[in-house]
Amino acid sequence: MPPKSKKTILVTGGAGYIGSHTVRMMAEQGYPLVVLDNLVYGHEKAIVNDSVQLIKGGIEDKALVESIFEEYHIEAVIHFAAYAFVGESVEDPTKYYRNNTAVPIVMLDAMQRHGCDKFIFSSTCATYGDPHYVPIDEKHQQMPINPYGKSKLMLEQILQDCDHAHGIRSARLRYFNAAGASLDGRIGEDHVPETHLIPRALMSLTSELDKITIFGADYETPDGTCIRDYIHVLDLARAHILALERLQQNHPSFSCNLGTGHGVSVKEIVDAIEKITSKKVPLAYGPRRKGDPPQLVADPRLAKEILGWEPEYKDVTKAIETAWIWIRQPHSGRYER
Ligand code: UFG
Repeated sequence: MPPKSKKTILVTGGAGYIGSHTVRMMAEQGYPLVVLDNLVYGHEKAIVNDSVQLIKGGIEDKALVESIFEEYHIEAVIHFAAYAFVGESVEDPTKYYRNNTAVPIVMLDAMQRHGCDKFIFSSTCATYGDPHYVPIDEKHQQMPINPYGKSKLMLEQILQDCDHAHGIRSARLRYFNAAGASLDGRIGEDHVPETHLIPRALMSLTSELDKITIFGADYETPDGTCIRDYIHVLDLARAHILALERLQQNHPSFSCNLGTGHGVSVKEIVDAIEKITSKKVPLAYGPRRKGDPPQLVADPRLAKEILGWEPEYKDVTKAIETAWIWIRQPHSGRYER
């Protein structure tokens, strides 16, 4: 356990998909870390570094959060803990507003009490809603079209207010489509249920799924399927470290997109998977999925300008290759299966 005098980074949701890759990268760079995760969607086995302490619990537990701030000298909070199923957020909006918007206020209150002034937030391209233009820059209006995106936008706004009122500076990182796994295949994406395109298409190749359905081939895009900007999870992880360093250097709060700037269609993903795996993806065509914008592509220039961040994996090949290694790991690969 790091002594109270040693500055420590508190990572909420650090046992989840993007969180665990960030935790591992930071631990390997020697950052003292404490992870707070309720393991509802996170996985204990996703924390692979012995130096990282995992505290099992939720951020809504005020006494627990307070005890962490009393025990450690928390220098910054990296906040991943959130629900992220767009469809579920439409069915059960209060679950999203409670967990993604209201509950983090417990953390902000504790930060204020203990003089912790840096917050790195997992925001999302879903805060933009249906884009008026692509690539989407940070000046694009934020008009989310589902409770998930709204719940994240509200926390962005709360963070701005906490900066003005209490000097808590924040980095609001708007991820586009996170994809891929660690290069050694040790940690990766394990959502239950899995809704994302790349893992589902790969699962159709390992017989976990009979087939995948392409949700809509009648969009106004060159091949009729939706276009997304797939960003490797390791590139996302690295951006968190750079964002932390920027706040440590006393720069002001900022919001920035994290994407490659290149759009890839659903059909192009399927083609790439078939090429990489030398297997045929069993396909069906279905209607459009509700709430899917035709195109979401980042303009990532601001991240380059202020963080010096550029994706190392500029096309989706590495994301597919690493996800494919991960999904075929021995012991059926993923954590609890
Ligand atoms: N898709 C299919 N078939 C599938 C799964 C997905 O055709 O079985 C399509 C979707 O319709 C979409 C594309 O593949 O056009 C990508 O879908 P994902 O579910 O992989 O990702 P999303 O773009 O829906 O979701 C991502 C993030 C969310 C975020 C959202 C913003 O994962 O957290 O972008 O729109 F909210």
